[in-house]
Parts: sequence; structure tokens; C-alpha cells
Amino acid sequence: MDNFPKFIFILLPLFFLHTHAIIFTIQNNCPYTIWAAAVPGGGRRLDRGQTWNLSLPNSPKIAKIWARTNCTFDSSGRGRCQTGDCNGQLECKVYGTPPNTLAEYGLNTFAQKDYYDISVMEGFNVPIEFTPTTNGCTRSIRCTGNITGQCPSELKVPGGCQNPCTVHKTTQYCCHSGACRPTNLSRFFKSRCRDAFTYPEDDPTSTFICPPGTSYRVVFCP
Ligand SMILES: *[C@@H]1O[C@H](CO)[C@@H](O)[C@H](O)[C@H]1NC(C)=O
Ligand SMILES: *[C@@H]1O[C@H](CO)[C@@H](O)[C@H](O)[C@H]1NC(C)=O
Ligand SMILES: *[C@@H]1O[C@H](CO)[C@@H](O)[C@H](O)[C@H]1NC(C)=O
Ligand SMILES: *[C@@H]1O[C@H](CO)[C@@H](O)[C@H](O)[C@H]1NC(C)=O
Repeated sequence: MDNFPKFIFILLPLFFLHTHAIIFTIQNNCPYTIWAAAVPGGGRRLDRGQTWNLSLPNSPKIAKIWARTNCTFDSSGRGRCQTGDCNGQLECKVYGTPPNTLAEYGLNTFAQKDYYDISVMEGFNVPIEFTPTTNGCTRSIRCTGNITGQCPSELKVPGGCQNPCTVHKTTQYCCHSGACRPTNLSRFFKSRCRDAFTYPEDDPTSTFICPPGTSYRVVFCP
């Protein structure tokens, strides 16, 4: 029985990593069809008013949820979307092509915390609201500003407003190394979506915390 304590010691962290299921209720309130996407999780078409209950039995360390627009898929689930396309697959396995407004979830196993945020660092396609629904956690965050309508001409693309890094590819906008600051373009996003990440070091105003195992609702066009 000498090996017994060591065995427990190795398995315990794994056990805690996989204890929680996490549930995302994903709802399309837009007046148009979207193809919701989640990695991990996949994707599906959501007509106006439809809901997708996504349950991930082993809470992932990171999850991203977004909407794709103007998609066509064949019966085998191959096709493409104007925004948020994930390598031409109906069921996403990779993140989407910007612009796409993102709901992001992170689990810090050691700190025993859930982190959640909305990011427009990949640009903006569909307005979004992200709300914890359990564990007494209630801070709802949203990004519903008129970003597509007022998008600076240099960032305008079909179906949304592109992020400055993808367009300009400069260190200033991409923040590749070291410290970085807001730019005139990140401020365009921030002034319309105060809750959202608009550049990589936007954390203090843009990261929200819940106890681990919280469930969430994501509403497109809240
Ligand atoms: C999603 O879950 C909610 C609450 O658990 C339930 O009321 C609703 O009917 C479910 N919707 C779908 C599409 O399964
Ligand atoms: C968004 O902004 C554009 C350009 O200013 C404007 O034409 C449009 O009416 C606005 N849409 C909404 C919903 O406010
Ligand atoms: C942002 O700044 C750049 C360079 O300083 C300028 O060319 C561009 O027009 C500005 N864009 C907006 C939307 O203010
Ligand atoms: C889909 O594409 C059409 C034609 O380009 C455009 O008018 C429409 O606004 C797009 N719909 C969405 C939801 O982006």
C-alpha cells in the first residue's frame, strides 16, 4: 500500500479540473438568422428567437462564443459565412475569422474563479449580452453600441466593423510586445462598448469574476 498516497496526490488535481459542468444558454434575439459558434462546443443555426442550450460536462479552461452571419452550408455542414467563419465548418473546431464580437469564458482552477468578458479585439459583427445566471453572480455585461453603423471607413467591412490590428497590422494597434495603450481606434470601440475588451491591456474595466461552476446566458441582439 506504499503507492496509495502518491496515487491520490496525482489524481486529485485532475479530479478538480473536471468537476464542473458549465452551461451556456445561447439565444438569438436578432431579427435575422445567425449561426452560433462555440469553441469548445461546435455550432448551430439559430433562427430569430431560437435558443441553444450548450452543456460542456468538463468545464474547459477557455471557451469562446460568437455569432456568424450570412452563412450557407451544405447538408454535410460545409460552407462559409460572411463574418465569424470557422474554416468553413458548421460545427466550429477553430475560432472564427474576424470581425466577430466574442463572449469569452476562462476558468482559473487554482484561484477557483470563473472569468468572463466580452471582447471586440477581433472586431464587431453582432451585439451581445453575457450574463451569469447562477451562484448569486449577477453582473450582466453587454456590447450593443452602434459600432457597425458608425464604423470608421478604414475599418468598415461587409457585415461588421473590423479590428484595427487586422487592418493596419502595426505594433501600435496589435500591441505585439510590451506595454500598450488605447488608440484612437480602440477608443472608438470603448466609447460604444464600455464593458468590452478593446485592446490587450484593457483588463481593469473589462474582466468580470464569478465562482467556479456558474452558468451563463449569451444573448445576441439583446
Ligand atoms: C434550455 O434550458 C432551459 C432551462 O433549463 C429550458 O427552459 C429550455 O426549454 C431549454 N431550451 C432548449 C431549446 O432546449
Ligand atoms: C447607427 O449609426 C448610423 C450612422 O450614424 C445611423 O445612420 C443609424 O441610424 C444608427 N443606427 C441606430 C440603430 O442607432
Ligand atoms: C486614427 O489615427 C490615425 C493616425 O493617427 C488616422 O490616420 C486615422 O484617421 C484615425 N482614425 C480615426 C477614426 O480617428
Ligand atoms: C447579409 O448580406 C446581405 C447582402 O450583402 C446584407 O444586406 C445583410 O445585411 C447581411 N446580413 C447580416 C446579418 O449581416
